[in-house]
Amino acid sequence: MRKKTFRTKSGLLLTIRRLRPDDTPYLYDLFAHLSPQSRYLRFHLALEQPDPAWLQETAEHIAAIHLPSQGWLAFADLPDELGACIGGARFVVTGAGIAEASLTVRDDLQGQGIGTELLRILITEAQKAGIHRLMADAQASNQSVFRMLRGLGLNYRSSTHAGETHLEIDLDVTHLA
Ligand SMILES: CC(C)(COP(=O)(O)OP(=O)(O)OC[C@H]1O[C@@H](n2cnc3c(N)ncnc32)[C@H](O)[C@@H]1OP(=O)(O)O)[C@@H](O)C(=O)NCCC(=O)NCCS
Repeated sequence: MRKKTFRTKSGLLLTIRRLRPDDTPYLYDLFAHLSPQSRYLRFHLALEQPDPAWLQETAEHIAAIHLPSQGWLAFADLPDELGACIGGARFVVTGAGIAEASLTVRDDLQGQGIGTELLRILITEAQKAGIHRLMADAQASNQSVFRMLRGLGLNYRSSTHAGETHLEIDLDVTHLA
C-alpha cells in the first residue's frame, strides 16, 4: 500500500503512507503528543521525562525500518498544525513468517477509529507480506487494544504475566470484514 486516505468518526481526513528513514521529526512530534500513560502503554516504560539520547535513538531506530518489516504514519491537517503526524503502526519481522506489531495514536485523537484503521492496514499488509503469526505485547489494562481486537473480530491467543499480556494473532485464519 503506497498511500491511503481515511475519514475519522469526527470527519477529519487522514492520509496514511509508508514510514521512511527521514520521518524521525514526525516520530518526535507524535511522541510529544502522547500522555505519560500512552507512552507507558506503548513502550512499557515510565517516560514522563525521557532521556533525550533514548528518545533520539528510539525515533531513529523506528524510522530506519526496512523490508521485510514495514511501517506507516497517519497525517492530518489540524486547526493549529498542517500535516500533523497523528499516529503510526508497524510490524517488525522477527522470524520466518513471524512479526511483532506496534501501534500508536496521539492522545487528543484517540477514540475516533484511527487505531482500528491502522491495525486493519497493518494486518492486511502483513498478510500480503507472508506473515502468518503477528505478536504484540500490551499492558493487561489496555482496554483500547482489546476493544480494537474485538472490533475487528480477531481471534487471538493471550497469556498474561506481571500485568503484561502477550498476544498472538494467527493471520492464516484472519479474514477482516
Ligand atoms: C491503542 C491505540 C492505538 C488505539 O487507538 P485509537 O485511535 O484510540 O483506537 P480506536 O479509536 O480505533 O478505538 C479502539 C477501541 O478502543 C476504545 N477506546 C479508545 N480510547 C479508549 C480509552 N481511553 N479507554 C477505553 N477504551 C478506549 C474505543 O472506544 C474503541 O472501542 P469500541 O470500538 O468498542 O468503541 C491508542 O489508544 C494508543 O496509541 N494508545 C497508546 C499506545 C498503545 O497502547 N499502543 C498499543 C500497544 S503497542
